[in-house]
Amino acid sequence: MIDQRILPARFEYIAYDAALSVADGIRSMVVRGAPAIGVAAAYGAALEAQRLQHLPAADFATELEKGFALLAASRPTAINLFWALERMRRIWRECGAAAPSAIAGRLLIEAHEILAEDIRINRAMGAYGAALLADGARVLTHCNAGALATAGWGTALGVIRSAVEMGKKISVIADETRPFLQGARLTAWEMVQENIPLTLITDNMSGHLMAHNEVDAVVVGTDRVAANGDVANKIGTYMVAVLARRHNIPFYVACPLSTIDRSINSGADIPIEERDGAEVTGFRDCQWAAQGVTIRNPAFDVTPAELVTGLITEKGVVLQPDREKIAALFL
Ligand code: MRU
Repeated sequence: MIDQRILPARFEYIAYDAALSVADGIRSMVVRGAPAIGVAAAYGAALEAQRLQHLPAADFATELEKGFALLAASRPTAINLFWALERMRRIWRECGAAAPSAIAGRLLIEAHEILAEDIRINRAMGAYGAALLADGARVLTHCNAGALATAGWGTALGVIRSAVEMGKKISVIADETRPFLQGARLTAWEMVQENIPLTLITDNMSGHLMAHNEVDAVVVGTDRVAANGDVANKIGTYMVAVLARRHNIPFYVACPLSTIDRSINSGADIPIEERDGAEVTGFRDCQWAAQGVTIRNPAFDVTPAELVTGLITEKGVVLQPDREKIAALFL
């Protein structure tokens, strides 16, 4: 996996061969972004099965079960993690009494398929989303919902990439995205690689830019969408959505169906990860907050469905999403 913690200063890969280390990579944000977490978890399960394939069948099953549990405990908010593990588990079930080595082989094929499918889905969302952006649009995004956050291409940044590929002149405004700086480090890096013009702002500047008519649309990704259309995404997204509504700016969420959790009734029930306070008090070796101060560090917030202009899915755009329209996506 590309080590996203050290980008853009260094571009390095880390190799993994077991569920335990993959789970640690997800938890420590070597890999992050909902679809990328799902793909990583699928490979984590496949690698664990390979590692265990020489055990007798009963031991293989017991140990592989522990591997799935380790992966499931790595991060709580992005539903893609659990979606991918459930899909891997289904394949395992379908293998019945097959030999461990055969199960391991089948799980690896499925992980490859989840990866390939994610790129196809991003491309489909990109095509639908690109049609929503006018030529010359200035698009604000939050966090990193790009190639790094997926198997490739991206959800929100995929929409932007597709619009550019269609020949539209698009410029991006990226919130730096406190506290982990996915916008400043990762979105900015991706757009520089692609030669797509990007302006970086701190998270508290978007209202000013909107008020001065410098933003035409907002496009963000998501980590989990509830059955009623409420959207969990990187902390600060809710603030942007409220501002966008205040200024009549469309607020779009690029959302593969794998990110919709129909078992969750509304955003109030989405588990929100609380991360280490050290992410707020400083960055890497630099500590700027007063020693001993109380910290909160919720990593995600929930934007109510009523603030969402449209969900961009691989099946098309769902305008003003609600329970019925979301259910219809799965018919
Ligand atoms: O904590 P992170 O970096 O994993 O959070 C990522 C986000 O919130 C993204 O916006 C979301 O996963 C959509 S990614 C395509």
